[in-house]
Amino acid sequence: MERYPHLKESDPDVYALIQKQTDYEATTLKMIASESFASFSVLEACGSTLTNKYAEGYPGARYYEGNEIVDDVESLAIARARKLFGCEHVNVQPCSGSPANQAASRAVMNHGDKVMGIPVTDGGHLTHGWKVNFSGKDYVQVPYTPDPQTGRIDMDQVREIAKKERPRMIWAGTTAYPHQLDYKAFAEIAREIDAYLVADIAHINGLIIAGVHPDPVPYCDIVTSTAHKMLRGPRAGFILSKIEDRLRPKYYPESKLNLAQRIDRTVFPGLQGGPHLSIIAAMAVAFKEADTESFRDYGRQIVKNAKHLAAALQNRGIELAGGGTDTHLLLLDFRKEEFTGKDMSQALAKAGIIANFNLVPGDHRSPFVTSGVRLGTPALTSMGMKEPEMEKVAAWIDRVRNKVNRIDEEAPKIRAEIAELCGQFTIPGIR
Ligand SMILES: Cc1ncc(COP(=O)(O)O)c(C=O)c1O
Repeated sequence: MERYPHLKESDPDVYALIQKQTDYEATTLKMIASESFASFSVLEACGSTLTNKYAEGYPGARYYEGNEIVDDVESLAIARARKLFGCEHVNVQPCSGSPANQAASRAVMNHGDKVMGIPVTDGGHLTHGWKVNFSGKDYVQVPYTPDPQTGRIDMDQVREIAKKERPRMIWAGTTAYPHQLDYKAFAEIAREIDAYLVADIAHINGLIIAGVHPDPVPYCDIVTSTAHKMLRGPRAGFILSKIEDRLRPKYYPESKLNLAQRIDRTVFPGLQGGPHLSIIAAMAVAFKEADTESFRDYGRQIVKNAKHLAAALQNRGIELAGGGTDTHLLLLDFRKEEFTGKDMSQALAKAGIIANFNLVPGDHRSPFVTSGVRLGTPALTSMGMKEPEMEKVAAWIDRVRNKVNRIDEEAPKIRAEIAELCGQFTIPGIR
């Protein structure tokens, strides 16, 4: 069956670009840690007629007529997310991860408040208080960082900084950190200083669902996430939270709103207009897909693959920041090499391994070149790749490493081998 027949006919330019990108992804190794493959069903819901509907408001309380059916769509997505994550309240309207984080911040902080988070240069996300982002302009970041020696977050250091600075909100979330987070310890600190604790699980939601990463829901006031990345849903964000606000008497003594209501009002009308209903339908589909044993197998295998790849690379003399991984991602550490992380990620891309350059703890190079490369296993795991394939991936990475600055001759050979391997696997949403 031919895909996108109408588009092919009406707009061959856009059609050709979509085909080209699809072919590229089907013949290379997608190892960007924040990417995976959405299923055909998720993609179909994204492209559905629900995109035509306006529904400002929430189910049962809209500002437009004719929303009975889309109320059911949004309610279904909410119910599925509540079941999947075992949480009290869900908002599925944020357009992506960053808007979800903006809503979480605004729901519990005022301009000028202190927010504690990991700087982007140390593995945190832009929205956790970085200076060029709304979160660093509207709030004052109190940074905490993984230890440059061990690469791990030191909870004693987090407590010390929190007690000294007394931020109103603490982010527990990362974008380039290969270890698990101790939400219980974060929660104890947040309670000691009356701070809101917000987990950002954009990168690791699938691991939490699979039970191979601690669950933040019991410990955090708010949990934000993307629906894409490992979860394999549409590009969107969502917010999980408690209903009651344990800090209302302190920070909002006059307010009649609980935490859930404040979050909802911050998303709409605070930050957004009409919800993207086709995307919300696709989220509902992704939540259903994630509430299965096969998804949990996928989550478990992501970590097994990452650990296996880590060991295989270390066996070849490649160093890893933090000494390895217990999540989905690895940070290759090339501080001792003459080439940079950027040189390596560009050489890998030529050979068909798509990743990104990344700072590593204690990096002496600039963020524009770095000494590290971040790799993730979700997409390869979605294709069905397991430990034997990770051995092959490690061998290809090693071959690239040995010829970083003269890769042009070797790259086409590796690229052909990779395309051949990819051809042996199914790819969700592609074939
Ligand atoms: C931890 C974390 N939170 C939030 C986001 C933001 O997601 P989006 O790019 O959808 O705005 C990202 C994206 O990389 C992320 O890694």
